[in-house]
Amino acid sequence: MKLGEIYRRAVAVGIDHDLRGREEIDRLIKAEKERYEKLDDNEKAAYDLDRLFNPFADTRILYGDPETEVKKVLIGIDLEVGEVLLAYLLNRDRSEKIDCLIAHHPEGRALAHLAEVMKLQVDLLSQYGIAVSVVEQLMEKRMAEVERRLLPINHNRTVDVARLLGLPFLCLHTPADNCVTAYLKKKFDQEKPLLLKDLLKILLSIPEYQAASKLEGAPKILHGSENSRCGQIYVDMTGGTEGSKEIFDKIATSGISTIVGMHFSEDHLEKAKKANLNIVMAGHIASDTLGLNLLLDAIDPENELEFICVSGFERRRRSLGEEKEP
Ligand SMILES: [Fe+2]
Ligand SMILES: [Fe+2]
Repeated sequence: MKLGEIYRRAVAVGIDHDLRGREEIDRLIKAEKERYEKLDDNEKAAYDLDRLFNPFADTRILYGDPETEVKKVLIGIDLEVGEVLLAYLLNRDRSEKIDCLIAHHPEGRALAHLAEVMKLQVDLLSQYGIAVSVVEQLMEKRMAEVERRLLPINHNRTVDVARLLGLPFLCLHTPADNCVTAYLKKKFDQEKPLLLKDLLKILLSIPEYQAASKLEGAPKILHGSENSRCGQIYVDMTGGTEGSKEIFDKIATSGISTIVGMHFSEDHLEKAKKANLNIVMAGHIASDTLGLNLLLDAIDPENELEFICVSGFERRRRSLGEEKEP
């Protein structure tokens, strides 16, 4: 499969599993095309043309010719200089023939623009009845914060090493996070857990969380108790990074009782506790691994690609019948 095809398929699967819905994504892409048409020649020369079909600013080919034929991939949740050097060494010393690197967390220009995908959270939360103006204003403030935090980072460091070693490099972030969010939401909608302990049982029926329980720890209730009722559940696993910590009061009054997330910062957790929400931490790397596995199942249904897994990632194919998609 060509590098460009992996990338384009990932974007398409990300759109298919985006809880904003196809109509909203089409509207965003149309607006982006109109914006591009109005740019002058210099602005067009500086424009990232991928924006015309890819609504995920954190998902890009960071280095490499899209025509590169890919068979073997070194893949991980975070790929940094160490992992890139590892790929080079495996190729050199073990004749592995790694054709490309795939990371989940963004690097390079995809990291620099991570804050843009946070807009997605506005749509997700407003679907639960929180006034769109409230979510938008809180999220704008938080996006500016995240953008400022990312600005001083040396974001192209890893990409530069991949380029010098001639290793094509792709990062797939929000498409994978959309897959895990849609998957868990559907599972909870279908299985309707009554108590938090039932919700934990559902998570523990998923192989990625079982594996993580042996390593980094099992999914955990951070607020609420095993016998607390789940009520309405909100899966908070996509949209770049943590949203505004000021939103939890609004979430509680919208009728949501339980938030299931990958991870929570102390500040966010404190605000969520004050809002009397139940908080379940499913686990960061396990949830990212699940999302990436679901995405890869859809990108590569014929199992054409081979993976060398590093940096917390373990490849599990659902098509092999290990677990049926809900
Ligand atoms: Fe993620
Ligand atoms: Fe992550």
